Amino acid sequence: MEIIIGSTAEELAAIAAAAIVRQVDRNPKIVLGLATGSTPRPLYAELARAAAAGTDFRQVQGFALDEYVGIAKDHPESYASVIQREVVLPLSMVRERVHVPDGRAFDLAFAGPQYDADIQAAGGIDIQILGIGRNGHIGFNEPGSSLSSRTRVKTLTNDTRVANARFFASVDEVPTHCLTQGLGTIMDARRVFLFAFGEAKAEAIANALEGPLSASCPGSVLQLHPHATIFVDEQAAAGLTHAEYYRYAYAHKPDWQEL
Ligand code: GLP
Repeated sequence: MEIIIGSTAEELAAIAAAAIVRQVDRNPKIVLGLATGSTPRPLYAELARAAAAGTDFRQVQGFALDEYVGIAKDHPESYASVIQREVVLPLSMVRERVHVPDGRAFDLAFAGPQYDADIQAAGGIDIQILGIGRNGHIGFNEPGSSLSSRTRVKTLTNDTRVANARFFASVDEVPTHCLTQGLGTIMDARRVFLFAFGEAKAEAIANALEGPLSASCPGSVLQLHPHATIFVDEQAAAGLTHAEYYRYAYAHKPDWQEL
């Protein structure tokens, strides 16, 4: 893992966006894995600036990480709506090329494997953008998720529902279930960019990056990923034992080794 500790979310987002733009320039049909939540917003803002300055995202494909079960697609807080509002429109992507799991599928048991098959048919995810929950979840893979799970229905923890209540009128309106890419699905991505900002994420980041590989902290599965880059601000990095080494390694990154 490459761990980049920055002073602000904006500074880190600019570094990550530059790397993504470089890849889009090389391969305009790149496949991006898209996260929702507050964390990736600075990254999407940087990518929107790049789009305004001429980077063409029209051939890029997108696959969202997850979706609530039972929520209408046009509900303002469905991840389909959030991805449309926060990613597709600002980056001038083509709506048809951006996929979100169908949380209203008639056959939810089939919707997960179908989503994985769609990702494979697109050639697999080149760069998966991720945030992390306070309990260490990535996507909606709550603690206890199989480290090799595929896209499927999961039950949200009460903590997650309380954390996401800010997007709804009350916690009772937060759906109880979701369809989420599995940890195995996420691990299939060629590259992973994980972002975490603020002290509320410090414990999850310490457990994910330096704790034991464990289903109790689903983000810890990234320790097995061959090409994961972690972008954390000082507050989110506060619990890391080897922070000084990560800073040193990044400062001494060989010139030929691009991000
Ligand atoms: C959400 C999403 C995750 C996200 C995480 C953290 O519920 N399903 O994809 O990474 O929880 O959210 P935030 O970035 O708002 O802190």
